[in-house]
Amino acid sequence: MIVGGHYKPTKVQQEFHQRCLEHPIVLFVGATGSGKTTALIWQLIDDALMVPHNRGLLARKTYEDLERTVLEDLLLELEMSQIPYVHYTRKKQIVFPGSKSIVFLTGLGDTVKNLGRTKGLNVGFIAIDQIEELTREVFLFQLTRLRLPHVPKNRRHLFATANPVPETHWLYEFFVGFPEEGIAPKEGTAIVHASLDDNPYLPDGFKDLLLESMSPEEVDRYVAGEWGFVPEGKAVFKPFFQKHLHVQTVEYTPDYPLIIGLDFGYHRPAAVWVQIHGDPFDPVGRRVHILDEMLGRDMLLDDFIDIVKNRTSAYFPNPTAVLWCGDPYAATQRSDRAESIDMELRVKHKIALRMKRVPLETGLQNIVGLLRKNRLFIHPKCKILIRAFEGGYRRDENGEVIKDGYYDHLVDALRYVLDVFAPFGMIHGVESVVRAIRVKRLLGSLPAGG
Ligand SMILES: Nc1ncnc2c1ncn2[C@@H]1O[C@H](COP(=O)(O)OP(=O)(O)O)[C@@H](O)[C@H]1O
Ligand SMILES: [Mg+2]
Repeated sequence: MIVGGHYKPTKVQQEFHQRCLEHPIVLFVGATGSGKTTALIWQLIDDALMVPHNRGLLARKTYEDLERTVLEDLLLELEMSQIPYVHYTRKKQIVFPGSKSIVFLTGLGDTVKNLGRTKGLNVGFIAIDQIEELTREVFLFQLTRLRLPHVPKNRRHLFATANPVPETHWLYEFFVGFPEEGIAPKEGTAIVHASLDDNPYLPDGFKDLLLESMSPEEVDRYVAGEWGFVPEGKAVFKPFFQKHLHVQTVEYTPDYPLIIGLDFGYHRPAAVWVQIHGDPFDPVGRRVHILDEMLGRDMLLDDFIDIVKNRTSAYFPNPTAVLWCGDPYAATQRSDRAESIDMELRVKHKIALRMKRVPLETGLQNIVGLLRKNRLFIHPKCKILIRAFEGGYRRDENGEVIKDGYYDHLVDALRYVLDVFAPFGMIHGVESVVRAIRVKRLLGSLPAGG
């Protein structure tokens, strides 16, 4: 269906063009060199030629980058296919005399305020190269201008390319979502994936050259086109975390108490489920098992606690005891009910939060110690926490831990447990705590069931 003279789309490029006619918002994501920009260009040419009097936008974050990259490629494709066009450099427009369609060339900038000359423009299509460079705000604004009335519905669309981004990027939530947490991708979106192997037109040796110079994470992202984190700064748990050692299908057993670590917060509340195994009289032989994780999204404290409790009874029935750990600052922070969180938990949810004020760095050293001694094991279902350990949880160039709003919440939830039950890499038996709780309960000073 693509009208191009010399263009023979690859399989994935064909799929991309197909999706563009079926969905109003299409993302082509993949490795550098997998043919994304070429497909974007040909979708644009097709829209401009097939729809008379069409108006469209070809954009990148900055006009300078656009001019250097996509525009160069577009002009080359037009020349090689001998498609008539006029490029008005000062007006930053390309006009197709055959269909009388116009493509506006523009840089979109950082904020909606900078949109300038194209702000009020109505268009039939929008093509954005390297959309991951844009802010979500600027991207969302683009969608509001797809309203040129005479353009058929299947041609009224936004299509874009991106290199893979970390899961923390807005693009990921928008196009992929977090299905395990019940967050679906946005309606109307489609995503097409490409790796370097999907483009047979690359020069020989191109891939080898890339492979030689890249770290495994970079290969995943730039060659395989996977979503993922490319290191900036240093991974906190590297090289102490070793997937083949520390990820194991650790099973829940009702024989040991269940410990739940909580990190509060409306946007990204987090919980981890932990057990400490081993002979109570043999502290050396004890091990920490991380059984489960949960990262919530936009929920009030009550809802969060309800979900955690439901999950606990569903997956971890009849535990010896349930112990709750949390952010020591919860004691002073105010929740939405203007009570301190730990008071609210105690009164309303019958949860006695165990807290210990330990500096962040001490807590992290503690986790490193447990990893080194091979005494911390994570169930493979804890996908986010495993990625955090693999390198998602990082330090910036000054050595400060990055509060990425994603990995950090789960690591915090875990830290609160270990600060109480495994400080200085020494795993405390929970037995004495459980005994103390039983005594207190008997004396009536603690609610039952917490
Ligand atoms: N269908 C195709 N036919 C011929 N060459 C192609 C095709 N698709 C891509 N290429 C070439 O492969 C190279 C990389 O493609 P490009 O679209 O720039 O990749 P990306 O934007 O994913 O990095 C370019 O030289 C491009 O001309
Ligand atoms: Mg490109």
